[in-house]
Amino acid sequence: AELHQFRRLLLDWFDAHARDLPWRRTDDPYAIWVSEIMLQQTRVNAVLDHYARFLSRFPTIAALAMAEEPEVLAVWSGLGYYRRARMLHKAAKAVVNDLGGKLPETADLLRRLPGIGEYTKAAIASIAFSEPIAAVDGNVERVVMRLTGSEATNGSQDRAVRETAQALLDQNRPGDFNQAMMELGATLCLPKNPLCLECPVQGLCRTRGEHPTVKRPKMRSK
Ligand code: ADE
Repeated sequence: AELHQFRRLLLDWFDAHARDLPWRRTDDPYAIWVSEIMLQQTRVNAVLDHYARFLSRFPTIAALAMAEEPEVLAVWSGLGYYRRARMLHKAAKAVVNDLGGKLPETADLLRRLPGIGEYTKAAIASIAFSEPIAAVDGNVERVVMRLTGSEATNGSQDRAVRETAQALLDQNRPGDFNQAMMELGATLCLPKNPLCLECPVQGLCRTRGEHPTVKRPKMRSK
């Protein structure tokens, strides 16, 4: 019952407050893939301009696969972490040459492409193909740890966090649910000074901001 309530509260909040972002207005798996690669290490605001420019120059996987690398890097310029652009380009060529030009539609198959790791496979599969798989990035990890009151920061904790995220996931709207968790971490469940009073799931949260610096390194007093 609590799980149902959590999902409903989170999704109602997302429906009412989600930022209107271009990759939420498309159902093109390629466009969603590009957005998730750009968002890996770059903030939403910095991604916005480049996303539109990249997609207008390379509107399809085939267009990207046919491009020469220097041009791909030139269109990427400003986003940094050029390795992401090289891997995206390489993956586009693999999709065209080995997979008939169509992006694979499951997380397991997506994971085999260059540049697609555990987080990204789940983000693309859930958002583009409605696969019920939790996408856990740094923001989501923090949200889950606060919700459950878990404080550990080692590898076994990562697995527990993933399992909790998977148990929370709304099976009917996995893409929206994952993006709602990300959105909560990016806008309210902030690393420092979380805005718990505005949080839609504060009533179901074990900590409600009492651990404002989850994952802190050992701190000396200033
Ligand atoms: N960060 C990573 N993926 C995102 C998405 N789909 N929306 C907002 N922030 C994100």
